[in-house]
Amino acid sequence: MGEDTRRGPVTGRTWVMLAVVVLVASAFGIAFGLAIDWFPAQGATIAKDIDTFWDVLLIVSVPIFVLVTVVALYSVWRWRMKPGEENLDGPPIHGSTRLEVIWTAVPTLIIAALCAYATVLLLDIQESPAKGTRVVNVSGQQFAWTFETTVDGKKVATNRLVLPEGEEVEFKINTKDVLHSFWIPEWRLKVDAVPGITTSYSLTPSKRGRFQVVCAELCGLGHAYMRQYVSVVDRAGFAAWVKQVSGGAPAGGGDDDAGGGAKPDGKQLFASGNPQTGVTACGSCHTLAAAGTSSQTGPSLDETLKGVDASKIREGIVDPGKELAKGFQNIMPGNYAQTLTPQELDALVTFIDESVNGGK
Ligand code: CUA
Repeated sequence: MGEDTRRGPVTGRTWVMLAVVVLVASAFGIAFGLAIDWFPAQGATIAKDIDTFWDVLLIVSVPIFVLVTVVALYSVWRWRMKPGEENLDGPPIHGSTRLEVIWTAVPTLIIAALCAYATVLLLDIQESPAKGTRVVNVSGQQFAWTFETTVDGKKVATNRLVLPEGEEVEFKINTKDVLHSFWIPEWRLKVDAVPGITTSYSLTPSKRGRFQVVCAELCGLGHAYMRQYVSVVDRAGFAAWVKQVSGGAPAGGGDDDAGGGAKPDGKQLFASGNPQTGVTACGSCHTLAAAGTSSQTGPSLDETLKGVDASKIREGIVDPGKELAKGFQNIMPGNYAQTLTPQELDALVTFIDESVNGGK
């Protein structure tokens, strides 16, 4: 290729060729982008609209990316320096008003249109909930979520969120300490928990199953452990759950004794937690010979609680950060005071005290 061609203007044929490359590459890029499963299964009614919005963003941005890349690569190739041209300067450029107007106006229009679409969508999915919608107070805390809701006229705080499929629910989200973020990927829901502010959000779960509730804001040493579950169940399942948690049913069931049910089993609670309320097992982090647990995430209770009296054991459960065992930093959830029933807490303290100190 002679120097004249390389310095000369871009010919009509070249323009056509570049346009074809941009069109073909864009078509491939869009097809490829749409084929990728970016998000988990849609678990709430709003998920469909949000995913459509994502597809629109993809369809609009891929051609822009391709256009910029093709122009840049072609220019690098066509106007590259050849040996002997080291000291040559390029031709002076005086700018092009028409071109500048176009490349300012077009992106402005695109961004404005996408903003309008996003705003309409946001207003649509943030519509205030109907009267009588179930309210769940979501409280973030280092390092656990507590879900508080009123069932049968009684407030129940749990570590696990259980909701009926197809019924709208309103979340009121707050935090007891630092910033957290309430995220359920299947619901396309992510709301920050901000100190001093209660944020709210409502949606309708549309898919049954067990989904992870994740904290999406780095909130301290135990951030990665701040993961719980939401179970979306049918109406009968929800009614059964309400009955279990509002009756104070102990870990491992117990019969439908009116008022309170059987006494909770401290050993079982320690080793397995309470699957109904989602209270996690002490034994998943702590070693305690009498319960047959051997995890070393937290201090071994056989060692650290030797000679410690029952009131201090209780304090260690409800206020875990207060006194720390040597060599440990606190990542234990701070919500046991709310998510354990008083009977469960008593049973745990008695069991641990008897196991380590013979109950003396
Ligand atoms: Cu709470 Cu991260």
